[in-house]
Parts: sequence; C-alpha cells; structure tokens
Amino acid sequence: MKTYLVTGAAGFIGANFVKYMLAKYPEIKIVVLDLLTYAGNLGTIAEDIDGDRCEFVKGDICDRALTDELFAKYQFDYVVNFAAESHVDRSIENPQLFLVTNILGTQNLLDSARKAWVTGKAETGYPRWREGVRFHQVSTDEVYGSLGAEGYFHETTPLDPRSPYSASKTSADLFVQAYSETYKMPVSITRCSNNYGPYHFPEKLIPLIIKNILEGKSLPVYGDGTNVRDWLYVEDHCKAIDMVIHKGRAGEVYNVGGHNEKQNIEIVKLTIGTIRNLMTEQPEYRQILKKKEIGADGQISIDWINESLITFVKDRLGHDQRYAIDPTKITNELGWTPETSFEVGIVKTIRWYLDNQKWVEDITGGDYMKYYEEMYGNR
Ligand code: NAD
Ligand code: TYD
Repeated sequence: MKTYLVTGAAGFIGANFVKYMLAKYPEIKIVVLDLLTYAGNLGTIAEDIDGDRCEFVKGDICDRALTDELFAKYQFDYVVNFAAESHVDRSIENPQLFLVTNILGTQNLLDSARKAWVTGKAETGYPRWREGVRFHQVSTDEVYGSLGAEGYFHETTPLDPRSPYSASKTSADLFVQAYSETYKMPVSITRCSNNYGPYHFPEKLIPLIIKNILEGKSLPVYGDGTNVRDWLYVEDHCKAIDMVIHKGRAGEVYNVGGHNEKQNIEIVKLTIGTIRNLMTEQPEYRQILKKKEIGADGQISIDWINESLITFVKDRLGHDQRYAIDPTKITNELGWTPETSFEVGIVKTIRWYLDNQKWVEDITGGDYMKYYEEMYGNR
C-alpha cells in the first residue's frame, strides 16, 4: 500500500485531489497536513477522513518537528505539496506571509523528505534514495510572468514572476529543482493554469462572481476586463498530477492547461448567462437569491441578473495581462488531455455552488466580510 502526504488538502485543489485519488485507488493511504488558514475548510474533506485510508493532521508545513515526526510515523512514498498562500491580491497586501509559507514551507518539506528518504551514499557521491519515492510540487503558470497577445508558456520559457505570490512560487520551484540537481532527489513539478470547479474559495474570480450575483451585489472587474486567463476544470488538473507523479520523469517540469483562454469580462458575462439559464430551467434555485423581487408572472424575478451588475474597478497592481499554457509535453509524454470542456465545466461548477450554499456560508464568516470590505471597499 502506497502512502501519500498531501499538504494543503483542506483547500480547493488539494481537496479535489484527495477525492480523486481515493476514488481511483482503493489501496492507498493519504495523510492530509493542513494549517486550516482562512482558505482551508475541514468540512470539505470531512467525509473523506475515515482514520484509515485518509487521516488529517492540523499543522504547519514550516514546522520541522511536526513534519519529521510525520515522515517517521507514516513512511511516506509520495509528497504532493499543495499547501500555499494562493491569492495574488493578498500577496500584494502581505508579501512576507507568502515567502514564509510558500518558500520556507516547501524547503522544510524537502528537508524532512530528504532526511526520511535517503538510505545511504551512492558510489557517485550523491545520496541514495529509497526506491519509488517522489516529491511533487504543485506550481503555477504564473511563474512565467505575463504574455502579450500572442504565444504560449512552454516549460523552457524563462521564469519571470511579477507578483509577490508568483515570486514565492518561483522560488519554491527553484528549491525543488536545486534539490533534484544537488542531491538527485526524485522530484517533479506541474505548472498549471487557472483552475475552476467545486470548493473554490470565493475570493477568486469565478466563485466571487457567483456569490455576488446570488447576493445581488455588483460584479467587480479589475481594469478594463481584457486580461486573459487559461481556465482548466480542477479534476483535469488532479488527473495531470496523478499522471506526473506515477509516470512522469523525475526532475522534470510539466505544464498543464487546456487551451481555454478567456478574457475576464467574458468569464463574468458567461457566469451571468449561465446563472440565468439555470434559474430559468429550475426556478426553485431562485429561492437562493437574497433579492426576492416578485415579477409579473408571480415568480421571483431574475430580470435584474444582467450585465448592468458589472462594475469596472481599480486595476490590480502589476496585473499580468495574459496567461496561456502549451501542454504539448504532458500530452505527448504521458497522454494527458483535459476531459471537461469549459462549456460543460462552468455549468457543473455553477450548479455545484447553487446546490452547496451551506458550504459557502460556512467558509465565508466574519473574516471574509472584513476582507471583502478592505479589498473592494475603496476600489
Ligand atoms: P487554497 O488557497 O484554496 O488552499 C491552500 C490550502 O493550504 C488551505 O487549505 C490552507 O489552509 C493550506 N495552508 C496554507 N498555509 C499552510 C501552511 N503553512 N501549512 C499547511 N497548510 C497551509 O489554494 P488552491 O487554489 O487549492 O491552490 C493549491 C496549490 O495549487 C497552491 O500551491 C497554488 O499555488 C497552486 N495552484 C493553484 C491554481 C489555482 O487556480 N487555484 C493554479 C495553479 C496552481
Ligand atoms: P484570480 O481568480 O484572483 O486568479 P489569478 O490572479 O491567480 O489569475 O483572478 C483571475 C483574474 O480575474 C485576474 O486577471 C484578476 C481578475 N479579477 C477581477 O477582475 N475581479 C475580481 O474580483 C477578482 C478576484 C479577480
């Protein structure tokens, strides 16, 4: 039985990954390590933690005593490091926290893994590693910087991070690669484009827009809304990580993306349209709306859910213009292709939020409102 340490799995992508892996592999054990920051919600994975195939440990990836203890106790075969401060806007407000969690935390995990996994010294002088182990770093396309109207990020594109968030993720990647070179540690890195799907914290664009529509609030679009992101359904990202840790070459970087570039303004308009369609097909969803105006037909009106809700607000500082991934390497080497088109994925996602309002309420308590006021109050 293989044992995985999955960090940050009370967050968006990590939680989806744990569910994906437990469903796919009956014979694995997963230990989740998560600090449960504002972005982590134990409720998201509560049904998965059975104390047998899946255990939960609350703690910090920077805590060396704890990570050493976990490696000694569980004899991990794989580490998949999702834990991070992940929001660009927050990194602009408080860069140091990103440096601590994303860089020092990753390096701490690398050292604990090195201590646990090195079995001796090879004749070459390099450490000898336990058979079959792998340290996987979940990285982002944001390490490559920003593109103009043309071109794609390839694995060979020079690293050019521009935000405190992407600078911290880049540094973490460089440490992972340094451990590969210096100690011949078996590592891999995936650099994925923007994810969307269930359990996405509503500080990020898509879930924030959904939440605001349901609350009858305006929809803040930074700058002129022409910035482009390359959206991927979260399960396709999970599938890519699974393939890379099991079949990908050690020491390699794999870009992950589904050729789905969209301007932010398109995303917002699509979200408005999809919510209207779902509420037309299933009028019972209108009960969720905070604004319960009754229309001429006697039903809760959705006429006001339209593009007039869009408000262009002050741009993000250093706002990257365009991200676009070239996934040729992972497709050619490992056979990865995305399964969920954006048209299908966005409907699934919005329906999930409509069906899981309790989850949204649970994670967006007082702190969220304070954040929202601070971030958007004077934009
Ligand atoms: P998230 O913010 O939803 O979740 C992060 C999780 O990490 C939370 O559960 C939080 O409690 C935990 N955490 C934070 N600091 C910790 C610490 N010091 N110790 C232990 N746990 C800690 O993030 P996400 O969107 O799921 O992203 C996961 C990873 O994927 C990140 O490394 C991010 O850089 C990367 N990534 C995200 C995207 C995206 O679109 N969201 C795209 C590409 C890569
Ligand atoms: P986000 O979801 O924060 O992801 P990232 O910054 O990592 O790409 O933002 C996606 C895009 O949406 C980005 O160009 C910023 C923009 N955006 C808005 O226009 N309004 C918002 O309220 C938010 C959160 C983001």
